[in-house]
Amino acid sequence: MCGIVGYTGDKNCVPILMNGLTSLAYRGYDSAGVAVWEGSELTLRKAKGKIDQLQELLEESPVGGKSGIGHTRWATHGEPSDINAHPHTDTRKTLAIVHNGIIENYLHIKSMLEKNGCVFLSQTDTEVVAQLLGYLYRGNPLSALTQAVAMLEGSFALAILFADDPATIYCTCKDSPMVVGHGDGESIVASDIPALLEYTRDVCFVQDRQIAVLRREGIQYYDEFGVEIEKKTTHIDWDVESAKKGNYEHFMMKEICEEPDAFKKTFDQYVSKDFTLKSDHFPWDEAKAKRFERISIVSCGTAYHAGMLGKKFIEHMANLRVDVDIASEFRYGDTLIKSGEPFMVISQSGETADTIAALRRAKELGCETMALCNVTGSTISREAEHVLYTYAGPEIAVAATKSYLTQIIVLYLCALDLAQKRGVMTQRQVSDRLEEMSRVPASMQKILDNKEQIQFFASRSFAVKHVFFIGRGMDYALAMEAALKLKEISYIHSEAYAAGELKHGTIALIEDGSLVVALATQPELQAKVASNMEEVRVRGAHVLALTNGPWEGAKGHSHEQWEIEKMDETLAPLCAIVPMQLLAYYLAVQKGCSVDQPRNLAKSVTVE
Ligand code: G6P
Repeated sequence: MCGIVGYTGDKNCVPILMNGLTSLAYRGYDSAGVAVWEGSELTLRKAKGKIDQLQELLEESPVGGKSGIGHTRWATHGEPSDINAHPHTDTRKTLAIVHNGIIENYLHIKSMLEKNGCVFLSQTDTEVVAQLLGYLYRGNPLSALTQAVAMLEGSFALAILFADDPATIYCTCKDSPMVVGHGDGESIVASDIPALLEYTRDVCFVQDRQIAVLRREGIQYYDEFGVEIEKKTTHIDWDVESAKKGNYEHFMMKEICEEPDAFKKTFDQYVSKDFTLKSDHFPWDEAKAKRFERISIVSCGTAYHAGMLGKKFIEHMANLRVDVDIASEFRYGDTLIKSGEPFMVISQSGETADTIAALRRAKELGCETMALCNVTGSTISREAEHVLYTYAGPEIAVAATKSYLTQIIVLYLCALDLAQKRGVMTQRQVSDRLEEMSRVPASMQKILDNKEQIQFFASRSFAVKHVFFIGRGMDYALAMEAALKLKEISYIHSEAYAAGELKHGTIALIEDGSLVVALATQPELQAKVASNMEEVRVRGAHVLALTNGPWEGAKGHSHEQWEIEKMDETLAPLCAIVPMQLLAYYLAVQKGCSVDQPRNLAKSVTVE
């Protein structure tokens, strides 16, 4: 979705803004622009299309100055165009503004402003905020801003440059992330952490309706009434390099290759050297774990699929019922959740609008809320009662890979901890499992070292029109994520199906040349999956089987077999996701798709 960056300090802001916009490009956008204080006026440069277009425009008509704001826009109100691109100004050009989010009452405010003589140039809700601020402005930016914020409904993150106070950037937000930081003689604001990392790692998250006022000397904070407040900084331990592509062609490949490391980092946070769980890192003690009758898990996209696999882990190992729902369904659905019940949201970014709304609803219902989250200081990590962090580091490719892996690792560890505290598994059994788990990164590395096998397969298969991922039990949950990965980056139609359910309808779609990927990592279910493979093979499908160690039985029913190193079947999904992500990656590359920024998708969906 949209990205915001703003800078004030000693340096020329334009390269800094462009650098920030580039680091936010992964969020998805269709136009970009900057507004810079040039010494005597606010100068705007805006271009539809990629940041390169804006760069070309800046080369043709350069601008420079020590304070400015920039934006990458993902169109919501009005088509992608130069005019609709941000920044926007009021008619008198007293200010320039960039905005993320959606102003829900913009039509109402617009008609009031039109009656007062404002003439609008764009179709955006953002220009309404610019004109409103211009209308309210009487020489005091803070006062105009507090008045405007009180009138706005919906979600917003705003960064504003006033011509009368040009070395200062005013920022505010509601239900849309905004993070600020102060470096050496400079202050910077962005909608996401990667844009700040080169300047500082001590950041501050602006909270709903708070105002941050950025100057080169430092940052002041105010509440919604304009009263000055103190805020604590959060230290981000991601390094600058981890948010860069390095020698990789795509962030997605870099992030897949980082998975063994992300595995170890996350594992080490929750598991001691002697292979016992750090049991106080989990938000339940023995008494609570025994009292639980069920856990609800709610999330979106890949995080929802992590929840589906988490359900299999927790039900299988801890003998505890888990209900999983999609956040956009949960937030408006009938709910049977009771006060005091455990409620978990999963979110890489911690900023997904529907997941935040689901969390707030669960809090209203009196649930005990917990979050699995990758971003310290994000809205979800602040609002949930308990946070279980994943340690994936920054994830830039839109398609989630290492964040999914670290989510399923933490869910696996939750299952083991619950199993131990509920008396379903002994400490010995848990330790043995953890010891085996610690060897999974090495197995993953072997897959990564031999990834050319998958690349070769993709080079022969990229013309495929339909791909079906089938599996039973944990493999079915994994199949959901494998199918999503493939469709989102390669645009190949793909579906996940519970293998036993195929013959109740979907098998009608199997034809010569369909590709069926049979996930068969669960030895107890292999014979059943073998029959399903055979059903599709005889109907013309090309069948690829993914097995847990060698499985002779796969040979007769599939055309191709890939295997992961033999491991306990509950651990197998943690490793088997890697070849599935690589398959999606290579098919997308073969098709010439924009792997890191697939069409129509955004990394973090901060609007409903
Ligand atoms: C978007 C992303 C997905 C992600 C989902 C949930 O759709 O493209 O990769 O899984 O949002 O995001 P979250 O940050 O809440 O995990």
